[in-house]
Amino acid sequence: METRRALVTGAASGIGAACARRLAADGVQVVAVDYDAEGLRELTTKGIQTLTADLADLDGLTQLPTDIDILVNNAGVQQVAPVEQFPPERFGYILRLMLESPFRLIRQTLPHMYGRGWGRVVNISSVHGLRASPFKVAYVAAKHGLEGLSKVVALEGASHGVTSNCVNPAYVRTPLVTAQLADQALIHGLTEAEVLDQVLLEPVAVKRLIEPAEVAELVALLCGPASASLTGSSLVLDGGWTAH
Ligand SMILES: NC(=O)c1ccc[n+]([C@@H]2O[C@H](COP(=O)([O-])OP(=O)(O)OC[C@H]3O[C@@H](n4cnc5c(N)ncnc54)[C@H](O)[C@@H]3O)[C@@H](O)[C@H]2O)c1
Repeated sequence: METRRALVTGAASGIGAACARRLAADGVQVVAVDYDAEGLRELTTKGIQTLTADLADLDGLTQLPTDIDILVNNAGVQQVAPVEQFPPERFGYILRLMLESPFRLIRQTLPHMYGRGWGRVVNISSVHGLRASPFKVAYVAAKHGLEGLSKVVALEGASHGVTSNCVNPAYVRTPLVTAQLADQALIHGLTEAEVLDQVLLEPVAVKRLIEPAEVAELVALLCGPASASLTGSSLVLDGGWTAH
C-alpha cells in the first residue's frame, strides 16, 4: 500500500501527540505541528517530522505542507468565564484557532487529496460540539462550528474518496483539562478535586478521565481500511454523557 502522509496540529501534547504516535505506528509519515517547539522534541525520536508554527496565524498556514493525505485538526485551547465577562479578543482568537484555521488547512490540502482520490479529514471536536456547558462560550461555539465544517467537507469530498469526521471526547487526561480545574474551582467555589468529581465527571457514566491513546485509536480507525463509508459522522467517546 502507498505510504500516507498526515499532518497533525497541536501535536506537542495530549491528544495530538497521541494521534501522531498512533498514526506513525501504522506506518503513516506524520508531520507534527505546534507552537511548542520543546513539546514537539520528543516526537522527533519516533521518526516524526516536526514543524513549529502558530496555527492561529492564518496567513502563516500557507507555509505548511499541502501534500497531505490525512489531516488531523486538533490544536485547541480552553477559557472559562461567564459570557458577560468573556474577553472579546479571546473569543476571536479561539474561533480563529479552532475553526478558521481548520477551514484553511482543509481548504489547502483538499486539492492534493482530490488528486489522489483518497483523503481523510479528522476534526477533534468534543462533546462540546454537540452539547453546551456554562462558561465555555468560545469553545462551545468553535466546536459547534467545526461540526458544520466537517459535514460540508464530507458531502463535497465523497465523490473524491475523501471522508471527513469529528471525534467527540468527553474529558481527556491532558493539560487542557488539568489547567481548567483551578479556574472552574474559583467559579464554582469548590476545590479542584470537587470540580473533577462534581462538575467534569458529573454528567459522565464512566467515572474517569479518558486517556489520549483512546482518542488516538478512534482516529486510527477513521484512517484505516474499513473507513470509506464512515463520513459526515461524529464519533462520540464520552463515557455515556450524551446518553442522558
Ligand atoms: N482534553 C479534553 O478533555 C478534550 C475533550 C474534548 C476535546 N478536546 C480537544 O482535543 C484537542 C486537543 O486538546 P488536548 O486536551 O490534547 O490539549 P493540550 O493542551 O494537551 O494540547 C493542545 C495542543 O495545542 C497546541 N496549541 C494551542 N494553541 C496553538 C497555536 N496557536 N498554535 C500551535 N499550537 C497550538 C498546544 O501547544 C498543545 O500542544 C483540542 O481541540 C480540544 O478541544 C479535548
